[in-house]
Amino acid sequence: MILVTGGAGFIGANFVLDWLADNDEPLINLDKLTYAGNRSNLASADGNERHLFVHGDIGDPHLTASLLAQYQPRAVINFAAESHVDRSIHGPEDFIQTNVVGTFHLLETTRAYWSALPAAARQAFRFLHVSTDEVYGSLTATAPAFTEEHRYQPNSPYSASKAASDHLVRAYHHTYGLPVLTTNCSNNYGPFHFPEKLIPLLIVNALAGKSLPVYGDGRQIRDWLYVKDHCSAIRRVLAAGRPGETYNVGGNNEKPNIEIVHAVCSLLDELRPRIDGKPYREQITYVADRPGHDRRYAIDARKIEAELGWQPAHSFARGIRLTVEWYLANQQWVKDVQSGAYRDWLAKNYSQRQA
Ligand code: NAD
Ligand code: TYD
Repeated sequence: MILVTGGAGFIGANFVLDWLADNDEPLINLDKLTYAGNRSNLASADGNERHLFVHGDIGDPHLTASLLAQYQPRAVINFAAESHVDRSIHGPEDFIQTNVVGTFHLLETTRAYWSALPAAARQAFRFLHVSTDEVYGSLTATAPAFTEEHRYQPNSPYSASKAASDHLVRAYHHTYGLPVLTTNCSNNYGPFHFPEKLIPLLIVNALAGKSLPVYGDGRQIRDWLYVKDHCSAIRRVLAAGRPGETYNVGGNNEKPNIEIVHAVCSLLDELRPRIDGKPYREQITYVADRPGHDRRYAIDARKIEAELGWQPAHSFARGIRLTVEWYLANQQWVKDVQSGAYRDWLAKNYSQRQA
């Protein structure tokens, strides 16, 4: 079996559900259930004997050591993280605790477990660390996209904490020989995306008649990837990636934020028109920019394509339609995740961002 961490979050839950649907291998899903982790994301796996959910922290070495000893997984896939840049600006401590210290503890217990395995199992074992393109910093408008050789230049507490964890993962390979793999992926979107991030926030706010907040001039560029394609890339890297290597994962789909906002508005105009017949674009509000806002991310995904034959299967037009349709069909999920803490977050992040 495999051990997945953070499998109740956005990407982790998609990965777990796809894994259970695609093959027979069981998995342990270790998740702390922070505000971003929802058991309801995994509702369709309830009763599935191949899914063992464990509520706990990657930074708890006793727990992870006992899980490894008991279940003897052939791989660990580390999704668990604090993942929202704006939250890292308001309060970086949790990011250091989980992304840096937590990953360190997970590496340590994994190393102890892996060192004691018989030779063949040691060789076959993998520790796959899921990371982000944000570790590379910001690109100018004309610079070439990030390759795996690009210098690390993280600019936010979030990306700095992910960069630190990537370095630890790398060090455990070079120093101890732990068979690690690292993926650095661009912005994901799709089902179960927590509505603090741009795309789900737009859909949820639009339907609620609220403003659609665009930071700064809205010309910042992200390279958007449908989450199911990220999951297929991780499966591919786990199956065939070379230990010690990093693989950039992206959608070849650079878009300025304002185009994303327009795409969501147009789809909602078509699928769920406003009662007054006016376009959702009328709800767009330009607000104060994020401090230190990275201008452009772009992934050069040629390595994973050439070495492992991976390519995204969804165009942006297809992926964003599937996403909007999912949110329209899952309004109860949206209601369930909008706890009091979520409303507190909106007040904290947006009340001081006047247009
Ligand atoms: P998310 O915030 O939606 O989910 C994170 C999950 O980790 C939650 O279920 C949370 O409960 C869990 N978690 C947090 N701290 C934990 C801890 N100490 N122990 C155990 N579980 C803990 O994040 P996501 O968007 O699904 O991202 C998953 C991973 O992918 C992260 O490592 C992130 O850095 C990386 N990533 C995300 C994106 C993106 O666009 N969302 C892009 C590239 C890489
Ligand atoms: P986000 O989804 O937070 O992802 P990341 O910061 O990891 O790229 O934001 C995506 C882009 O959208 C980023 O440039 C910030 C911008 N953004 C807004 O313009 N308004 C918003 O309310 C949010 C949450 C993000």
